[in-house]
Amino acid sequence: MKKVILAAGLVAAMSVSAVAADYVLKFSHVVSENTPKGQAALFFEKRLEELSKGKIDVQVYPNSQLYKDKAVLKAIKLNSVQMACPSFSKFGKFVPQLALFDLPFLFKDIDQLHKVQDSEVGQKLKDMVTAKGYVALDFWDNAFKQFTSSKKALIKPEDAKGQKFRIMSSKVLEAQFKAVGANPQMMPFSEVYSALQQGVIDGQENTNSNIYTKKFYEVSKYMTVSNHGYLGYLVVMSKKFWDSLPKDLQANVKQAMKEATAKERELAVELDKSQFAKIKEYAEKTKKLEITVLTPEQRAEWKKVMSTIYPKFYDPKVIGKDLIDAAQKVK
Ligand code: LMR
Repeated sequence: MKKVILAAGLVAAMSVSAVAADYVLKFSHVVSENTPKGQAALFFEKRLEELSKGKIDVQVYPNSQLYKDKAVLKAIKLNSVQMACPSFSKFGKFVPQLALFDLPFLFKDIDQLHKVQDSEVGQKLKDMVTAKGYVALDFWDNAFKQFTSSKKALIKPEDAKGQKFRIMSSKVLEAQFKAVGANPQMMPFSEVYSALQQGVIDGQENTNSNIYTKKFYEVSKYMTVSNHGYLGYLVVMSKKFWDSLPKDLQANVKQAMKEATAKERELAVELDKSQFAKIKEYAEKTKKLEITVLTPEQRAEWKKVMSTIYPKFYDPKVIGKDLIDAAQKVK
């Protein structure tokens, strides 16, 4: 009897919370849950539901379950989904200038990058996104990217010659691979694993976290720790959804976001380290993956070739010399 009452109570409580939510906020992303973005999205869900006292029901959809890559930006415009966190490359059609963050070897380390994001440069870029009808919330990190290949270990820039690399849809990444004589191929994130497995592409570039959680290391023979470029995101919200929220709930969104961003930055550092350790463990155990960490001299050779592409993006319609110079000036 007691059990029945308890169960009935539980059902009632559940339906109350379901009914009590005034707003449903769907948050779509493409990566695994065990990544900086995946974990921070879940943190945001918990905090916003707490702060809004259940008035906003946040639903997180990972792994491209709802939308692939840049398709989510159209969906946000239509308010079919309320929130997303696409990588900078995926804003290409709307705000190509965000590709500033894709430029290889532009940032010396994550601190310099955060300073750029927190500076006028970051604000200018957010304003451009706002002008396109989105609510630009915060920048989130993943980490610096590494290369993987099944054709040839990438030690010198010449090693990339003729290799087919998957890239996100980005003119910068296209130019970056062309600079070393490789063949870049744009492809959604959700298709990378099978393209590597089937040999449609020879390699790809991504962070330790994405390489680990999507098992790209299992379908690659070589991995090069190059830290040649950065992968990060801008969290955006549907303007229609934002405008529908009363002031107090907007304040809750801002607060939950602020906390999630702080958490995200910590997670990005932790997961980059711990997930690389797991890839290394796999490599040592199975001998199926050869990992090379570039020496500073080898890295300098890649930098020399890849940074020749910057002038291609001096036109303000693509990125702009002002933004590139301003980012480089931040120390
Ligand atoms: C990729 O497409 O490689 C990344 O942008 C995926 C992601 O969101 O981290």
